[in-house]
Amino acid sequence: MTKLATIKLIAIATFATTSSLLACGDGGNSSLDGTGNGAGSWGNGGGGPSYSGGDAAATPSQAEAAYRKVQPALESKCGGACHATGATLNAPRWLAGPDSYVSAKAYPGIVVADVYASKLVNRPAGHPAATLVDPGNEQLKADVTTWLTAEAAVLSATPLPGAGPVDLSQGVIDLSTIAAGMAGAKLVFSAQVAGNYARFDSVQLVAPTGTGIHVVAPVFVMVPQDKSPQLADKSYSAVDVSIAAGQTVSLATPFFFFNWIAGSQLKIEFAKFDAATVASPDAGAQPTCKDLAGFQTSAAPELSKSCVGCHGGGNANATGALDLSKLKQNDFAGACEQAHFKLNLANKAQSSLLLAPLAGSGLNHGGGKPYGTTGAAGYQALMAWATKE
Ligand code: HEC
Repeated sequence: MTKLATIKLIAIATFATTSSLLACGDGGNSSLDGTGNGAGSWGNGGGGPSYSGGDAAATPSQAEAAYRKVQPALESKCGGACHATGATLNAPRWLAGPDSYVSAKAYPGIVVADVYASKLVNRPAGHPAATLVDPGNEQLKADVTTWLTAEAAVLSATPLPGAGPVDLSQGVIDLSTIAAGMAGAKLVFSAQVAGNYARFDSVQLVAPTGTGIHVVAPVFVMVPQDKSPQLADKSYSAVDVSIAAGQTVSLATPFFFFNWIAGSQLKIEFAKFDAATVASPDAGAQPTCKDLAGFQTSAAPELSKSCVGCHGGGNANATGALDLSKLKQNDFAGACEQAHFKLNLANKAQSSLLLAPLAGSGLNHGGGKPYGTTGAAGYQALMAWATKE
């Protein structure tokens, strides 16, 4: 079942049993069925976002002040049981306490360089209630936009870590120069120029040999060889991955860089590129797969059917969290190790592999909740293997 369908079902069930409207924060008499605010308009509406404060705050403290101003209204509308505690429909906790400012800034896709790409001023797919783009929220949306604009100004005033430029034909950008200790880090890609665009058929981030890394929002920048201005592409602005030392993560491809001028070079910048401690599925201490046969006959078919579409490399966030790319290559032994990494060996039912796709488990999941209960066939198929590990 898709995420959208799951959410709708939960919503219908909720309304049928309580026949009352759910609210988020203390000010929220907002209806969760999304029809209350005349939400027939499903787009951004006529006038488009108002770009207030574009020339305003550029310092971090000014950006924070802009947030503190909108904080009460934002928490009242979106926080509480929804995006602060996640109690309602397992909502993502981007306003989590103790300080919602810290949570909002850390949550992927909210504070971004391109204000209008922020999740806050767009409607996330399947969002079950009115959002800031709906009628009635104009003031809040304007204040949020002012805050996000200040944050974007801070981001653009801070030089980003990056490397290059290189010719596209080189197919690799050495990232070891970004900071000390990054030896071995690189971006490996294959790209071809056709007409007015460059088409990237593979884009891989390789972590340094000596440390894991946390990478946020890679930006591809075209550096023309004539005097034309540089052009940045932010298609990967939602990417937020942690990569264990020596490991590789594939970003979603194909990726088209439009208005590419033939002969230009490519450089790359990151909103964040930091050393991080990331447990490796290949680390020596990691217990290894015992029941390969069970994996192959029971878990692998289910994972291939329901999970590999996102976790096999197609969705960078998903693959960063659970890498099942080896299953896509029919490497069962390798895939068993990859899946094994998300088992809780002391308590199998508490494995994130089983909790992420399970409705009501309390674990947020970008891939939705295909398993309504622990009785679902898919859940059982994964559990049949997990119990033997
Ligand atoms: C539509 C895409 C999509 C599908 C399909 C999908 N996932 Fe995910 N999954 C994600 C994304 C995105 C993340 C990372 C962000 C998050 O945790 O929500 C993720 C994260 C995870 C995590 C990591 C959670 C953690 O806290 O470590 C696990 C485990 C997981 N998924 C299991 C599964 C399983 C099992 C299936 C198949 C039954 C599945 N996913 C199907 C998108 C998907």
